[in-house]
Amino acid sequence: MKEVKVFLNESEMPRQWYNILSDMPVPLRPPLHPGTGQPISPDDMAAIFPMNLIEQEMSPQQWIDIPEEVLEKYLIWRPTPLCRAYNLEKLLGAPVRIYYKNEGTSPAGSHKPNTAIAQAYYNKAFGIKRLSTETGAGQWGSALSMACCMFGLECRVFMVRVSYDQKPYRRIMMETWGAQCFPSPSDITETGKKVLAEHPDSPGSLGIAISEAIEDAVGNGDSRYSLGSVLNHVLLHQTIIGLEAQRQLEKIGEYPDVVIGCAGGGSNFAGIALPFCRDKINGKDISIIAAEPSSCPTITRGPYAYDFGDLAMTTPLLPMHSLGHDFVPAPIHAGGLRYHGMAPIISHLVKEGVIEGRAYHQLETFDAGIKFARTEGFIPAPETDHAIAAVIEEALRAKEEGKEKVILFNWSGHGLVDLASYDAYLAGKLFNYELPDEEIERARKVVGQYPRP
Ligand SMILES: Cc1ncc(COP(=O)(O)O)c(C=O)c1O
Repeated sequence: MKEVKVFLNESEMPRQWYNILSDMPVPLRPPLHPGTGQPISPDDMAAIFPMNLIEQEMSPQQWIDIPEEVLEKYLIWRPTPLCRAYNLEKLLGAPVRIYYKNEGTSPAGSHKPNTAIAQAYYNKAFGIKRLSTETGAGQWGSALSMACCMFGLECRVFMVRVSYDQKPYRRIMMETWGAQCFPSPSDITETGKKVLAEHPDSPGSLGIAISEAIEDAVGNGDSRYSLGSVLNHVLLHQTIIGLEAQRQLEKIGEYPDVVIGCAGGGSNFAGIALPFCRDKINGKDISIIAAEPSSCPTITRGPYAYDFGDLAMTTPLLPMHSLGHDFVPAPIHAGGLRYHGMAPIISHLVKEGVIEGRAYHQLETFDAGIKFARTEGFIPAPETDHAIAAVIEEALRAKEEGKEKVILFNWSGHGLVDLASYDAYLAGKLFNYELPDEEIERARKVVGQYPRP
């Protein structure tokens, strides 16, 4: 019988995360203090994050031990299986072997708990009692709610109003794990009250929700803010995905020609890709592709610049590909990919030619997701559909060129709480959104006000 899944024993799970900062051919530019234009110091971030995570954010150490308490929680669902998509291969009829890392097996349904667990642990170890965060469609909010529950922390999630109303199931997951979930804009922060006074029917945005969560955290001595993507320490925690995949491929004598992930803020893509970026930096010939929406083409069309991570300009200036911190993406269903910026680490590796971005339209991503569901069975999250669209494109290219290829991708989450989006797609109610050139010009003007990286 053909082998479909490659497992690691629990004892084979990696015990360290990989920090690519130590291997960068050209060092990463530092985040800047918007007031002084100087690199920020750990103290500048102390009111927002606990010092142990700030140290990790800035650490040059190549390998960082995963604490025993975090390993214990990871073992609830890790190591995740590496699966071969034989049925998708058959449909495509291409000379490729497609492997995917199934991160949808976590209790919250995506890769997000890999960092949520670690962040809850470090905050608890630092004496923090409560975490606040934002969430769009709810994947991140639910992952952090679960992690806080496991480490005995209170959790408050500001969920973008329109999703709060339209997608109640993620909110119910958060509440089941004991978190409080507020529709954002809310009436419990000054930011929220101000928005509501001007726009009582505001549908909310990720920008408003981030500002509310930071305000909620900073006003209180034993609470902190938590972010589910973009930052170095978040990407670090996700590297367990790629490290496991390397061990699993090694077991069956395979090595990928192409590594693919979808990219919103860059964390799940980094998780699968960074260990392979290390190999590429050390001479391996391999394509590493980040798949993003054409309606929010941060890597493929956004200028590389210093910009803020949020609408209210409360974060430091980050060196990244950005469509402008005030950019409001079209209402595509891949809510986790509707972000104006991109992780500085990923942006830097794009500039250095290690990683390549590709953009896909909403309809082709759902088509790819449906092909996957109808061959492999699992229904992917709309974000994951972008990675699958890139996999299919690469497979068909290999067929045209008559080249054999091994493709590895990150199956970042399941879509069982996003079925309304498949319903809309199947009913012909979804559209493509091409971003006009004027929007890119506008982005250039926004970031033109800040120092150039
Ligand atoms: C399933 C899934 N994949 C991908 C993403 C994109 O985020 P990131 O780029 O940080 O992995 C999200 C974000 O919510 C998600 O829920």
